[in-house]
This record gives sequence, structure tokens and C-alpha cells, in this order.
Amino acid sequence: RKPVTLPRLRDMHRAGEKITMLTCYDSTFARVLDQAGVDCLLVGDSLGMVLQGESSTVPVMLEQMAYHTRCVARGNRTAWLISDLPFGSYQESPEQALRSATALMQAGAQMVKLEGGGWTIATVRCLSERGIPVCAHLGLTPQSVHALGGWRIQGRDERAAATLREHALALADAGAAMLVLELVPSAVAAAITRELSIPVVGIGAGPDCSGQVLVLHDMLGLTPAQPPRFVRDFTQGSSGIEDAVSRYVDAVRTVSFPDPALHCY
Ligand code: KIV
Ligand code: NA
Repeated sequence: RKPVTLPRLRDMHRAGEKITMLTCYDSTFARVLDQAGVDCLLVGDSLGMVLQGESSTVPVMLEQMAYHTRCVARGNRTAWLISDLPFGSYQESPEQALRSATALMQAGAQMVKLEGGGWTIATVRCLSERGIPVCAHLGLTPQSVHALGGWRIQGRDERAAATLREHALALADAGAAMLVLELVPSAVAAAITRELSIPVVGIGAGPDCSGQVLVLHDMLGLTPAQPPRFVRDFTQGSSGIEDAVSRYVDAVRTVSFPDPALHCY
């Protein structure tokens, strides 16, 4: 296939063609996911948990994100490559974010992702004006897990949902080219997706987002503890890893994942 581009992802959002995204941390999986037709690879700071064995994403360092981004970039050919700005690498100022984003872009990222609303608007504007595509991340933002009091659903009451919507609109207005919504009620995510002209990729955010993302190790059934409700193990009934990834791509495209009765809020 031809390389996935930002205009292509925007067209998919507009046309209601579902976007597929998985996290990816190394070159072998980058090749496998790319060949299975996954649209976007996310070098997520979830690598702190699934690769490093930490209990949150907070300890992850920028140099580690750059290292894994470089690994993924070498194995990838056509997928859109997004890399997470880790905790502490962008909170200080737009200038700090610009320096950190530069490191990830030079490691091979095509877009950087950062968490939070409101205070991130100046940073999103600064990066996007300087030619760095930005993906915003709202809802459950794992880098703030200690402030949020755990991994819990966000935007549940009317006021919280209104704030989520305001932040999403303001971030898109500031130049964000994509939005990840994590752990929010399906109805809230659906309304935000309808209102935005940029793709909204959900995780635990219902079937009506422009696309879906899962942590690779979760969808391969490798998570030791009871995985969150929004996860499906795609190795069940599959003939191997490539087949499991293909089943995920197919399930997202045909909107058979996520299932409102099983994986949503
Ligand atoms: O780090 C990560 O894996 C993520 C996704 C869950 C969206 O940010
Ligand atoms: Na992340």
C-alpha cells in the first residue's frame, strides 16, 4: 500500500472509514503490523508498563521513547508513526515541548502525542505551527494517574463531559491533527467525533470514534493481570500473531470491535 498520510487519515474520518492503530515498540512488530495493514503505529509510553515492568507511565524517559521510535521506524514502511511525549518532557513550556518533539521526530516519528487539555493548547499551537503534527490525548490520561486517583472512566457526568468537549474543540482549533480519547462514555466520544473535523481514535471510548487503538500486548493476550474491560484478546481462535493482528484490523474496519455490550461504557 501507499504510505499513510495525514490527509488520508482526515479523509478516512470524513468518509467514516475506520482507522486502525496499535501500539508498537520494536522493529519486528512494526513490520508485522505494517504488513497487516494497521494504519497507525503508536510508540506509546505504555512501554513503561509492558516493556519495563513499571506500574505506570510516569517513569518513562524521553531518550527511551526516542530509542523505541528509532526501532519502530526501521521496521515500518507505510504506517503513520506516532510517538508519545513522555511525562516531564513537555509540561514545562512550549519551548521544552519543541525540543522534546524534535528528538522524537528526528528518531523517525511523523507525529507526537501529548496528554491533557486547556494548558496544552499553547504547546499544541507552538508545535503544529512549526511543522510538527500533534495528536492530543484526553479522557483518562495515564501520566496523570496519581492526580486522577486511578484508572477510572472520565467525562461521566454532564459537566465533565462538557469540559472534555470544550478541550477537544480548543485543541483541534490550536492545530491538533488527531485526538485520542481514552476511557470515556461511548455517547460522549461519539458526540465529540461528530463535531470534530480531525480523526478521533478511541480506547475504551465506544464504536463511534473515527478509529480504535489498543496496547499491542493487551490484544495479544499477554497482559498478566485482569485486563481492562475495553480489551479483547485477538489471539483467541487465531492461528498466530499475524492472524490476530489481521483479525483486529478487520474487526475495527467492520465495527465488530468494540462491542457496545462488552467493551464500552
Ligand atoms: O501509551 C499508550 O499506549 C497510549 C494508548 C493507550 C493510547 O497512549
Ligand atoms: Na501513552
